[in-house]
Amino acid sequence: MQTERDPSTIDMPGAARSAQRAAELRALLHHHAHRYYVLDAPEIPDAEYDRLFGELQALEEAHPALRTADSPTQRVLGRVLPGLAPVRHAVPMLSIQTETDTTAAGAEAFDARVRRELELGADAPPVEYAAELKYDGLAINLRYEAGALVLAATRGDGETGEDVTQNIRTIGQIPLRLRAEQPPRVLEVRGEVYMRRDHFERLNERQREKGEKTYINPRNTAAGAVRQLDPAMTASRPLSFFAYGLGEVQGWEFLAAPAATHGAMLDALAALGLPVSGDRRVVLGAPGLVAFHRDIEARRDALPFDIDGVVYKVNSLELQRRMGFKTREPRWAVAHKYPAQEQATRLNGIEVQVGRTGKLTPVAKLEPVFVGGTTVSNATLHNIFELRRKGVRIGDPVIVRRAGDVIPEVVGRSLELAPPGARPVYVPNFHMPRQCPVCGSEVQREKGGIDHRCTGGLFCAAQRKQALLHFAGRRAMDIEGLGDKLVDQLVDGGFIRTLPELYKLGVANLANLERMAEKSAANLVAALEKSKTTTLARFLYALGIRHVGESTAKDLARHFGGIDRIMGASVEQLLEVNDVGPVVAESIHTFFAQPHNREVVEQLRAAGIHWPEHEPEHEGAAVATPAAPLPLAGKTLVLTGALPTLSRDEAKELIEAAGGKVAGSVSKKTHYVVAGEEAGSKLDKARELGVPVLDEEGLRRLIAAAE
Ligand code: IVH
Repeated sequence: MQTERDPSTIDMPGAARSAQRAAELRALLHHHAHRYYVLDAPEIPDAEYDRLFGELQALEEAHPALRTADSPTQRVLGRVLPGLAPVRHAVPMLSIQTETDTTAAGAEAFDARVRRELELGADAPPVEYAAELKYDGLAINLRYEAGALVLAATRGDGETGEDVTQNIRTIGQIPLRLRAEQPPRVLEVRGEVYMRRDHFERLNERQREKGEKTYINPRNTAAGAVRQLDPAMTASRPLSFFAYGLGEVQGWEFLAAPAATHGAMLDALAALGLPVSGDRRVVLGAPGLVAFHRDIEARRDALPFDIDGVVYKVNSLELQRRMGFKTREPRWAVAHKYPAQEQATRLNGIEVQVGRTGKLTPVAKLEPVFVGGTTVSNATLHNIFELRRKGVRIGDPVIVRRAGDVIPEVVGRSLELAPPGARPVYVPNFHMPRQCPVCGSEVQREKGGIDHRCTGGLFCAAQRKQALLHFAGRRAMDIEGLGDKLVDQLVDGGFIRTLPELYKLGVANLANLERMAEKSAANLVAALEKSKTTTLARFLYALGIRHVGESTAKDLARHFGGIDRIMGASVEQLLEVNDVGPVVAESIHTFFAQPHNREVVEQLRAAGIHWPEHEPEHEGAAVATPAAPLPLAGKTLVLTGALPTLSRDEAKELIEAAGGKVAGSVSKKTHYVVAGEEAGSKLDKARELGVPVLDEEGLRRLIAAAE
């Protein structure tokens, strides 16, 4: 698309010229917003988008008559509503049957039911299904008339919902205008507004930095944001949307086709500019459903958003019509759940633990419960503020959540599960201790009042232990065999007071420890030796600087290229690093301003820890020598399937060390897809988009060739 002014307008009268230019700008901005928000493949830099946006704003300012409802400038209207108005749905918003048997049998039961209702004999061919994700957010109906978004409503009771049009307009992914020359007269699109987990984390990070309250989970946060009375508030929440169905439709020829399918309908919605998930597949019969259920279950925690199951729908719209509805649910669809990541249990007590940075965490002692695939008996309550907000008391039934690798947490009291009339056995007026329960040092309440911290530093055995465990962790220095039992002994026995002392341990003194034989001592010494060859990002992360997680460590390493430049960086220079804000920059700067921390770095290097360094990526990061480009600089790769020798993490590290980025999904912006055994839909997508596909060997060659 062209962004310059059309020369044929030069002879037009001023008003007509302005009107034409405004229309042109609207079309351009709609196009680029779709590339940016929906396809994740912008064609122009942000600054150019802003320039076009500014030009349209100025035109509308000068000629208010040019301001149309679907203008991209009209997303945030900034009017606070007294309440949300009720909206009667033209077509009721149904709910969906839920299959709670989380095994393959759940999928088989649905297929059997469909075949029975369609009166298919045993030898009839398998039924075709559209299999998709069950997004965990808030159902929304979007009404487009002649291509323009005119109304957005929540589901409500299915018959009547709430008018949330103003709020929904602020979601960049939702088109204000459909991409079609001749849009349907009426098209109601149904789907889910949700919040990605990374966006949720970042939102909470911002809340913490501001000392404001954090949100519990992405689903409630998304639902709350949609139902705000102040659209500016909604606009400040990072919301996303996926379309999965239709409401009222008039004049859309697509639906008239006799062979129309649900899958093709979603493709058609995508073509109209609506976000539709790529994680969907058309499958055959029960085996196809089972395979989809398994595949998604395996990838569940790696998806960028929460799901609580998958949804199967009979693919043929004709068969859907034939099957029809049962009161409030279609007979042709089912939600197949996954094992819950939340469970109810009883809170038996609260203990205070001291973490790596001295933070005191109230930890719930629970009646052991099976959740998220393991038995959980301890779960974090985060801090006193959260604990009070949740109002949990000893003896209460509580909800515990454990998702993937995340530390189990108490989400709140389980009201439904409390037996009628039950009273908590004991209601402690829980206070954080004034002295560290481990070392007795003074406990300070932080500015903002949320966290309590032991001031003992590395004098505190708990902090020393956690610092060692973090340092040795798989994603840090990766010292195999250095677990919590051993760390307890090393610290409690006075063998180690500082990190560098770890590398002074010899087989002789290790072998004297409990449960340590000559052999395991030798293994640990070998693991320590092996850990000395590392990367700058791992080393930085291992140091345990507050607010420096893995991704910040990687950004720092990429930006500065060497440890001395990082240690010498000013707060301003640190702020130039991608995603580093004032709190993080201050923390890094303060850390390296402490002589004893610089000494730890020196001693670790003297012990033989080393990594490759490179020239800084940014001019601001000191010295003027131009940076040698890394072999995969600027390249985005996607991994799929099992590679023959590299694990996912190792492949990612290899790519990142070569300057590349690893993305979760394939788009036109992807430069390469690296595929292994049992590669799934990402490989199909790569072929569809013509993205080059490599195997592990190819990846290695690519990196070597460019070096
Ligand atoms: S279809 C007529 N598909 O699950 C069938 N629903 O009660 C209508 N949901 O609140 C639903 N992902 O918002 C459908 N891929 C998906 C879905 C989905 C999530 C939600 C929906 C509704 C609930 C079903």
